[in-house]
Amino acid sequence: MPPFDPQRIRADFPILDQQINGKPLVYLDNAATSHTPQQVIDASAAYYTKTNSNIHRGAHKLAREATLAHEAARSTISKHLNSKHEHEIIFTSGTTDGINLVSNTLSLSGKITAGDAVIISGLEHHSNIVPWQMLCERTGAELKIIPVLENGTLDIDHYHSLLDERVKIVAVSHVSNALGTINPVHEIIHAAREHGALVLLDGAQAAPHLKIDVQELDCDFYVFSGHKVYGPTGIGVLYGKENILTELPPWRGGGEMIKEVTFKHTTYNDLPFKYEAGTPDIEGAIALAAAIDYMNAIGMENIAAHEHNLQQRATKALMEIEGIRIFGTATEKAAVISFLIGDIHHYDLGTLMDQMGVALRTGHHCCQPLMARFNITGTARASFAAYNTNEEVDIFIEAIKKSARMLS
Ligand code: ALA
Repeated sequence: MPPFDPQRIRADFPILDQQINGKPLVYLDNAATSHTPQQVIDASAAYYTKTNSNIHRGAHKLAREATLAHEAARSTISKHLNSKHEHEIIFTSGTTDGINLVSNTLSLSGKITAGDAVIISGLEHHSNIVPWQMLCERTGAELKIIPVLENGTLDIDHYHSLLDERVKIVAVSHVSNALGTINPVHEIIHAAREHGALVLLDGAQAAPHLKIDVQELDCDFYVFSGHKVYGPTGIGVLYGKENILTELPPWRGGGEMIKEVTFKHTTYNDLPFKYEAGTPDIEGAIALAAAIDYMNAIGMENIAAHEHNLQQRATKALMEIEGIRIFGTATEKAAVISFLIGDIHHYDLGTLMDQMGVALRTGHHCCQPLMARFNITGTARASFAAYNTNEEVDIFIEAIKKSARMLS
């Protein structure tokens, strides 16, 4: 493999080569959506140019080829996550969809009922809060929250005190989207196991940065989205352990998820199709697999090391700015810096940065309870990807200093 070179990687991303407000684009909103390399765009175009057909249905050649390509994509993702079986990989429309699938099938199955409990954490994205709140409303179960400490890590002692035989599932993010904290998921999973609780990891922000091994983690469910791993929007993955997915009922009904339908009774398909009602996002799955191949060609360790350097460089320079507050200062942290400067509103900061060509996310990052924990309405957030460079970090810092001067 050639040495890691962000300039070479950048050349794969046509979208990066443009000016915003007359300035070269410095894209630091990767935690919201990362861009797609030409290799992924080509995979997507090739599907529509040569293969487009419905899968698992037609007797014709294109249908066979589309089916093979879709199932090859499942195989790529299974290998990438090191799942024991390919049929443990369910295609979804994204992380949110995967969490809703799990929370709905758990309550449909009667595995969570009144008097039971669900544990989430105080730094969850709304997508890993609201589906569990809805489940608790449906079932009468209790939602328990692991508190967040001042440095943006979870209060793990408190977590241990929340665990008892009433807890049926622990659903936490692997990496926080708002703070970048990498949660101690091994300890979380181990402790949950001792109390017989299932564990779902929201890997939306971990999948772009870390090597994920679901067998080594021993989690029951792992979810992530295509658009944060250099793939398309509208596609995602739910990994679930075979025995649990087999036991749980389907959630959405329709074509593909059935074995036999009569007006009296329907029998359901085997895994993974039982959870994939309707025509899936075939092109999305194929392009997602191309994105996974792309990351693996660079090497997850190389991506993580490069992003860590960018984050260190940016954090060090930000710390020198008067009035800076960085939210999330955990030692174990991935590619995200959330910050405020004095009493400057995050939105004003983001708007001025955009004028200078720098794309940040501002606001609550779909984490209102976390923002409330820090008594703020939101932050400005810079998040890094493999194609960001030291030079971009320096442009970002200069632009932040200029904006802070203008807004103070
Ligand atoms: N969840 C995405 C973010 O953190 C949208 O920006």
